[in-house]
Amino acid sequence: MGIKILGTGSYAPKRILTNADLEKIVDTSDEWIRTRTGIEERHIAADNETASDMAEKAANNALDMAGISVDEIDLIILATVSGDRPFPSTACILQKKIKAKNAVCFDVQAACSGFLFGIEIINSMMNSNPNFKKALVIGVEKITYLTDWKDRNTCILFGDGAGAMVLEHKDGASGVIASKIATDGTYTDILEVPAGGSAKPIDEKVLEERSQYIRMQGQEVFKLAVTSMVNASKEVLEQAGMEASDIRWLVPHQANLRIIKAVGKRLGLTEENVYINVNKYGNTSAASIPIAVDELVRAGKIERGEYLLLTAFGAGLTWGASLIQW
Ligand code: ACO
Repeated sequence: MGIKILGTGSYAPKRILTNADLEKIVDTSDEWIRTRTGIEERHIAADNETASDMAEKAANNALDMAGISVDEIDLIILATVSGDRPFPSTACILQKKIKAKNAVCFDVQAACSGFLFGIEIINSMMNSNPNFKKALVIGVEKITYLTDWKDRNTCILFGDGAGAMVLEHKDGASGVIASKIATDGTYTDILEVPAGGSAKPIDEKVLEERSQYIRMQGQEVFKLAVTSMVNASKEVLEQAGMEASDIRWLVPHQANLRIIKAVGKRLGLTEENVYINVNKYGNTSAASIPIAVDELVRAGKIERGEYLLLTAFGAGLTWGASLIQW
């Protein structure tokens, strides 16, 4: 039993949309966005840049760091709500692009918590089936295609990007020490894309109502986000018999600076231990945690053997936490 993290990678599209740019699109201000969300800018994928294109770049970066051949990968789990097509899975499209011919590939849909769901699934699969020895877990979003650029309540929040991690099954390794994933379907309506699925296919009425885009009850989501991330974090610390003070970095889902700070404070952590990059990326949904972890690793802000506490929440509601050792 055991998992080792071999490498990380990430990718953000070239185009940057600043708060000043948004001032020209909707009735908002840089000051409002900064004070309510902490976001200064976000990356936006090019029209012809797909989720699988971004996932490909992040995956190749992670494989380079891991120093292994793609042929060694036997499992790929890709978390997204904004994949290339309804089917086939974006994981299979990625498989073709990176030529991961020996891998089993599938998508996971758990909104912003998707990457943590992916880690949990990989942990379980690798520790129960000897056929799975090396895996890629990816969080990728082209979520700006689901963004209503006429809705100032939501369009200021989101950005595109991808992050990836290579994991290896290794007896005795403690890469994934404890994890928790959870959902509560009674909250499906507070954060949703109402149309575009089989329940409400896109037609003229949908386009008129703009219900093919993200709708959110911001304050309700805010409260649930803080409580769920704090509780999940405490639970995994308890499972591991560790204290928050043992953690080098808390890496919360980067949705809003105020949510991130509230979670850090409730866990008794100081700002030096709470990683923040929401200012540069906005909310990249399933990509936010792996992008943040890759930044920490590549900036040398985490040493081998140190602990990271990852926590996320998202539409569903979904939430979770993973305690990992780099
Ligand atoms: N610019 C200027 N004014 C705005 C904007 C804007 N972009 N957006 C809303 N306002 C106005 C509102 O219309 C409202 O005006 P009113 O008082 O005249 O009615 C006022 O600002 C306050 O609006 P609130 O919604 O109460 O603002 P709040 O302080 O709650 O901040 C926010 C809104 C930033 C969305 C906050 O609720 C939040 O971060 N919630 C959580 C969001 C989140 O994390 N979502 C998850 C994302 S999805 C996912 O992770 C899958």
